Amino acid sequence: MTGPAPTDVHPAWLPPEVFRAVGSRHCLVLGAGGLVDTVVAEVERACAEHGGSVRREVEGPPPSLVLALVPAVGDGGPAELDAALAELETAGGGPLGAEGYALARHGEVTVLLADQPAGLLYGLFHLTRLGESAFGAPYAAQPHRPAMRRRMLDHWDNVDVHPVMGQVERGYAGGSIFWQAGHPRRDRGRVRAYARLLAACGINAVTVNNVNVHATEARLLTERLDDVAELADEFRPYGIRVHLSVTFAAPVVLAGLSTADPLDDAVRAWWAQTTRAVYARIPDFGGYVVKADSEGQPGPFSYGRDHADGANLLAEALAPHGGVVHWRAFVYNHRQDWRDRSTDRARAAFDHFAPLDGRFRDNVIVQVKHGPMDFQTREPVSPVITAMPGTRMAVEFQVTQEYTGQQRHVCYLAPWWSEVLRFGWSDDGHTVAGVAADGGGLVAVSNVGDDPFWTGHPLAQANLYAFGRLAWDPQLRPAELLDEWIELTFHPDTSADPDLLRRTLHEIMDDSWRTYERYTAPLGVGFMVRPGLHYGPDVDGYEYSRWGTYHFADRDGVGVDRTRATGTGFTGQYPRPWSRVYESPDTCPDEVLLFFHHVPYEHVLHSGRTVIQHIYDTHFDGVAEVEAACLRWKSLVGLVDAAVHARVTERLDEQLRCAREWRDQINAYFHRKSGVPDAHGRLLH
Ligand code: GCU
Repeated sequence: MTGPAPTDVHPAWLPPEVFRAVGSRHCLVLGAGGLVDTVVAEVERACAEHGGSVRREVEGPPPSLVLALVPAVGDGGPAELDAALAELETAGGGPLGAEGYALARHGEVTVLLADQPAGLLYGLFHLTRLGESAFGAPYAAQPHRPAMRRRMLDHWDNVDVHPVMGQVERGYAGGSIFWQAGHPRRDRGRVRAYARLLAACGINAVTVNNVNVHATEARLLTERLDDVAELADEFRPYGIRVHLSVTFAAPVVLAGLSTADPLDDAVRAWWAQTTRAVYARIPDFGGYVVKADSEGQPGPFSYGRDHADGANLLAEALAPHGGVVHWRAFVYNHRQDWRDRSTDRARAAFDHFAPLDGRFRDNVIVQVKHGPMDFQTREPVSPVITAMPGTRMAVEFQVTQEYTGQQRHVCYLAPWWSEVLRFGWSDDGHTVAGVAADGGGLVAVSNVGDDPFWTGHPLAQANLYAFGRLAWDPQLRPAELLDEWIELTFHPDTSADPDLLRRTLHEIMDDSWRTYERYTAPLGVGFMVRPGLHYGPDVDGYEYSRWGTYHFADRDGVGVDRTRATGTGFTGQYPRPWSRVYESPDTCPDEVLLFFHHVPYEHVLHSGRTVIQHIYDTHFDGVAEVEAACLRWKSLVGLVDAAVHARVTERLDEQLRCAREWRDQINAYFHRKSGVPDAHGRLLH
């Protein structure tokens, strides 16, 4: 059922060694159902490799590992199983739920319990993380449940190769694993292996096409639905539901209706009937993802309707089948005039969506990017996230490194995501993670392609892994997650010096997001990247553009005034205390100072440095840190797989070249604008 692992692709966090602890045990599996078959197949494969055994009947010699669905536990099972069950009952906390599991160890037996098959699968992967430590000293039953019900990856994959964006929009890992030049790919083994990796880090939903839905991709909803169904067949055994990005104009472009007006009866009937057909073909279909009235995509505005009208139309069609619509809040005017200082892109999502709170149907999930702009290296948290208490919200991250080095630079993003998830709106524990957990969960743009290392940069696999794990438990610490990923991916059994390897990878990766921040756009001002490509420095690239992405640097200062007092008023979209904290440069955190304020170059930061000296210092420091990372990686030759070593070396060479370019352009630019010399007399060009 699980099939052999493809040999032409890196095993990522599931090399055979991680199954040794499970695979060398005598395993008893109790329960039935699709995903239990997957668990059995996984355990069988592990046992075939590592000498253990699997059986599904209670009778037989004492097992050393029991994996059981609670409802399938009858009389006559091992005593350790009953003990674990009793413990679970007294531990309280209610049922384990659709995906939860509990682990216990009594005497010589480790017990994994779940209420439902998906829980058993997640529990099995938890055992791979624990390795031998799951089979050591006894411990009482510990329940694990996901914080977010939906943990989703959006693939921005195109079916046809787009003339500008290619096969994968913002894809930095080769082609798509789903599509190739207009057709589905036939190597399904890769998709199945991907599903397995995703389940192992906790993902349970995937969108298989780009949010920008072009002509061919629109047809996935109707005449090309079989292509989607085939992918769903690959994902299903790993508990992952497939979702589809659809165009709001579908009734017009696919069915020739004269309108896509959400209040038109014929349009509603078309969506209802089309959605029925989708569920007839894919009974566990997840739902639709929609980018409407955004960057040129069609939407309800054309008919004088708003986003609630639009989203509710699709929600109504999906509701009888249990599906959801993810309606993206990434809506702003992308044809702005740079001369107009009153229009502020950061304000747009809130201005469009907050007034609609309470009008969305229950199965609408408003999907909002974590920051008010666009996945920059640093932004404040989007105020939309807390502005709609009567709406289910999903928070969107970007695993693909569009603005963070495009999988050519090492940039471990978990510290950034963790900061956002822990961001507190108030003192009463109301956080971003809490809003997502109560609402629509977490979503991220995938970073995977047909590259032999999955993600172009082998170390970028850690971002995918960490995203899934944080969606399961947003309290997990980024450094611990990195440790988990290192242990699994560079399994200690496969290295001559695992401690040195682990230490060095931490040194290279732990702070790599901040390193990237240091040598790119300063203090939260954002962009300064080459337009279109979004890679490499171009300080004024977006300064006079229609995209609304300015920094306003002049001879005296830099930054965007978004205050209520003198600027665009964006700070007023935040509740207290943040509306006050951000309003004044005295209280605004340094790292987002230029996002909220236009300040003189000599403005003194909380760090004690002036803005201009901060810019010079951080750019020199950032490059020095990349130089150190290159040396550290060099020291690992022979300790990691040669192909991985070579690929990372090649990427680090490019990162160093690019970081130096960033440093020199940013420093030269601000030196020329300000005329302020570097306090340490370094070369500014
Ligand atoms: C960014 C990105 C686009 C993408 C858009 C979105 O603007 O550059 O390629 O389509 O985000 O999130 O919809």
